[in-house]
Amino acid sequence: MKAIKVKPDIYWVGAVDWAVRDFHGYVTPRGTTYNNYLILDKQVTLVDTVKHDFAQGTIDNIRDVIEPSKIVNLVINHIEPDHASSIDKIMALIPGATIYITDRGKKGLDRHFDTSKWKFRIVKTGDTLNTGKYNLLFLETPMLHWPDSMMTYVKEAKLLISQDAFGQHIATSSRFDDEFIECASQAELEDAVIDYYANILMPFGQLIKTKITEVQKLGLDIDMIAPDHGVIWRKHPAEIIQKYLDMANGKASLSIAVIYDTMWHSTEQMTLPITQGIKEEGVDCRVIKLRATPISAAIKDFWKSRGCLVGSPTLNNILYPTVAEFLSHLRGLRPKNRIIGAFGSYGWGGGAVKEAYEEFRKMKLETFEPGLQVLYKPSLEDSARCYEFGREFARKTKDYHTKFI
Ligand code: FEO
Repeated sequence: MKAIKVKPDIYWVGAVDWAVRDFHGYVTPRGTTYNNYLILDKQVTLVDTVKHDFAQGTIDNIRDVIEPSKIVNLVINHIEPDHASSIDKIMALIPGATIYITDRGKKGLDRHFDTSKWKFRIVKTGDTLNTGKYNLLFLETPMLHWPDSMMTYVKEAKLLISQDAFGQHIATSSRFDDEFIECASQAELEDAVIDYYANILMPFGQLIKTKITEVQKLGLDIDMIAPDHGVIWRKHPAEIIQKYLDMANGKASLSIAVIYDTMWHSTEQMTLPITQGIKEEGVDCRVIKLRATPISAAIKDFWKSRGCLVGSPTLNNILYPTVAEFLSHLRGLRPKNRIIGAFGSYGWGGGAVKEAYEEFRKMKLETFEPGLQVLYKPSLEDSARCYEFGREFARKTKDYHTKFI
């Protein structure tokens, strides 16, 4: 790769990770990028580093426009290893540079590296750095994505370097949103945005609203948003902000995700009349078998839909393991503004549906009760019950959805 100009004297110098398919357990079928940015000014400033495997790549990209030893400031917006784990290799080239970082960022770096010889300036919201013609403003964004996180606004360039926020896991030769839309599609970009938000930022919806309001109150003039993953929002910065606000406010499509697993196909057989009942009510639905689907893909489908039905056979009186794993993962993401119910087959004692509702209550989701259980295999009568269960759930989902219109 080469450095790519994003604004006058500001360059993308990051890395494209075409091969990554497992991002700390989150499936990334499109790969990802680790973006960082170089500001060529009186004081040459690098904003963020990249994942350690790509250190040489970013050094080569920097060298494409300037000798790395000329960098005097290193801004670290976020210390998670996908962005900060090559800092030791960068600092080896610029031992006299000053690192601009939040207090919690510094404490986190201290746990990962020998920082004793590095020079730091701890910054908080409102602090600035003048690099010459550019003024950088730091904005703390704790928990977006980690406690240390912050963003850097380059005033004269109207550029917000937003670290994880507004990112997408896409490996692409396009550096900008409009380029990607032209060579791929708007739908693919939107899918990647939802996937990323659902799996990484879902727990932080309230914080996202608060932070966007705070930025809007500051009256920052932003015409480009440069995240640390995926494409840079050159053409549609306002739209991605609105998209985040919509998702934080619970926007979802009037559709239902039927997410299930099965042992001897009985729970699977229940899904057919259930989905027919849902369709009869005019509600779109998609069916996801957990054993055939990565959890992060199931989470995305959950998040896209207003309603969810979870199907699980009973195994040893509790949930089937893949369903339990999915619900555990979902609970950690603290979902909101969704309605959910459960169904499944059992052989003697039952227990999976009951346990599913216990999980739903822990998540404080709107529940559709009672759930539906079928003994062994669905009979014709059971199939009719499944159909009605699907219809009734679709009606309830339509009602619930009106709260968000
Ligand atoms: Fe892309 Fe929170 O790291």
